[in-house]
Amino acid sequence: MKFFVDTAEIDEIRDLADTGLVDGVTTNPSLIHKSGRNFFEVVHQICDLVDGPVSAEVAATDFDTMLAEGRKLSEIASNIAVKVPLTPAGLKTCRALSQGGTMVNVTLCFSPNQALLAAKAGARFISPFVGRLDDIAHDGMQLIAEICEIYENYPNLETEVLVASVRHPIHVLEAAKLGADVATVPPAVLHQMFNHPLTEKGLAAFVADWEKTGQSIL
Ligand code: G3P
Repeated sequence: MKFFVDTAEIDEIRDLADTGLVDGVTTNPSLIHKSGRNFFEVVHQICDLVDGPVSAEVAATDFDTMLAEGRKLSEIASNIAVKVPLTPAGLKTCRALSQGGTMVNVTLCFSPNQALLAAKAGARFISPFVGRLDDIAHDGMQLIAEICEIYENYPNLETEVLVASVRHPIHVLEAAKLGADVATVPPAVLHQMFNHPLTEKGLAAFVADWEKTGQSIL
């Protein structure tokens, strides 16, 4: 499974990228707004920090403008994945951009049929929002299961399932069990995934006992 970081906060991306465990970054207009930064500056900086795909979302909703915006965003860096919404105009834009060689991440996916249409449109990634489904008492991980099942029936489909709107480590765990290709994870959740109280307790005991030996390795 690939781990993308779901944020536009440079310091958080830099810290996690230093671990070598980050395969990409996803942003969206809300995350850009939260960063308080200039869109092009922060996306360019992220592309310099991370070699993997960096999702930058169009702002328009009509085909002509989304296509123009997508082409402009793709010029920022070679690892840009243009994000478009899962609408008829968005998928038309996806088709045009992907045929031109641009990576496209189709976002705001909430049904298996939507995911099937996005794959038909040549999406590199499909972003089903599991947390927002859970938020309204629907089973977000059931959507992932259905999309993975459908995609497995058609090996010629090259779209990667990018689990988004992740709220906690269990979403990542369940996504991995289902064989999703990518999880885009808020920094706080990624940090939670490292932690276990028995690891902390065991390490503290190792450190204390090693000090008692009076020895050093270096
Ligand atoms: O990448 C999509 C993700 O940022 C949406 O998450 O928490 O706004 O549902 P959320």
